[in-house]
Amino acid sequence: MSTKRSEALFAEARQLMPGGVNSPVRAFRSVGGTPRVLVEGKGAYVTDADDNRYIDLVGSWGPLIAGHAHPKVVSAITAAAQRGTTFGAPCPDEIELARRVIQAVPIAEKARFVSSGTEAVMTAVRLARGFTKRDRVVVFQGCYHGHSDALLVSGGSGIATLGLASTAGVTAGAVADTFILPLDDEEAVNRLFDEHGATLAAVLIEPIPANSGLLLQRQPFLELLRRRCTQHGALLIFDEVISGFRASRGGAGPRLGITPDIVTLGKIVGGGLPVGAVVASAKIMNTLAPDGPVYQAGTLSGNPLAMAAGVATLDLLDEAAYTRLEVMGARLQAGLEAQLAAKGVAGHVVRVGSILWLTFSAEAPRAAWSDAEAVARYAAFHAAMLAEGVYMAPSAYEVAFLSLSHGKAEVDAIIAAAGRALEAL
Ligand SMILES: Cc1ncc(COP(=O)(O)O)c(C=O)c1O
Repeated sequence: MSTKRSEALFAEARQLMPGGVNSPVRAFRSVGGTPRVLVEGKGAYVTDADDNRYIDLVGSWGPLIAGHAHPKVVSAITAAAQRGTTFGAPCPDEIELARRVIQAVPIAEKARFVSSGTEAVMTAVRLARGFTKRDRVVVFQGCYHGHSDALLVSGGSGIATLGLASTAGVTAGAVADTFILPLDDEEAVNRLFDEHGATLAAVLIEPIPANSGLLLQRQPFLELLRRRCTQHGALLIFDEVISGFRASRGGAGPRLGITPDIVTLGKIVGGGLPVGAVVASAKIMNTLAPDGPVYQAGTLSGNPLAMAAGVATLDLLDEAAYTRLEVMGARLQAGLEAQLAAKGVAGHVVRVGSILWLTFSAEAPRAAWSDAEAVARYAAFHAAMLAEGVYMAPSAYEVAFLSLSHGKAEVDAIIAAAGRALEAL
């Protein structure tokens, strides 16, 4: 497999953009090798600059539940573009998308569209603070909520401590009101609420944490968060930027039977264009400007192209679509597990519907983890899968996504490729 064109283009990219990329994980630093410069995506496949074709398991990190360049999505975007790319004024498609989102997500009575998941969560936190008139928020180690300052925290030395900035450039002040707790730890949650419950604006969690592998939470843990938030008048925010319209049409909330106060969405809701959304009850949402005192705005918010892509994508997601994603997900999981067993390689395949995580750690973790050996194995596996024509996320901490365009042929080809890649390990 030649990667000459990708290498040349990426060398040029490195001269022009930090690390050659516009989002760090794309640089392949944690797996090594040359990032493939992708020039085309069709259905379940992507093609790189050297004309190598891969079965894609990244799906642009989640948005492409319909696969690449789905004809209905492309024609909706094309038609919208011909009518004008942006107005900075109300447009019909934002009403259509809001209607669909509100119908799908049980708690949603009103929606606000923004242009990324980061913005959605940043807005949700500001909204929760404005609504409760409290300052502090709680997040969990191992979850990711985008790159707004207040949420770029890492754990302090003790449990129930305030967080420390996890990156240069974030001031201590920016994270001074952010607590960070371990996932899957009821005692830590109870202790924090006992000590600080009356000061908490919100607890923010990915109900299906999918940014440090797939860290499936126990039901009692999530129920405890709901209970303690209700007791103390804090809002429970489910960050469903990944799980929204993925775990089910209504997201993780209905799947888990837990009702949050605010839900953030992104990825799928934009159908492959830049969109995020905040949804909640009318009472909470009316706290946002211009109805309420919490300011939020955006030049390209509710952009007609993005709204049209979202509408076209959501219209593909009927019950049959979720059944297909579940069936293909189960087939891929079973096939990968069989290959691990047959080759005698320690590992796990964790799955919710069409989200899968293959890890080479001895146990499937429920909380933030580190395992240098598992990470190194994933890097070798990743390179072997690329050589086999399967494009997996370039990090052991990232999950795989199936789309509606992955059929039996693609799933079985991935399983066979994994068998050969594991053999090579
Ligand atoms: C759960 C979650 N929240 C927020 C974000 C941030 O979204 P974006 O990258 O669109 O800003 C992500 C991105 O992967 C995410 O997975």
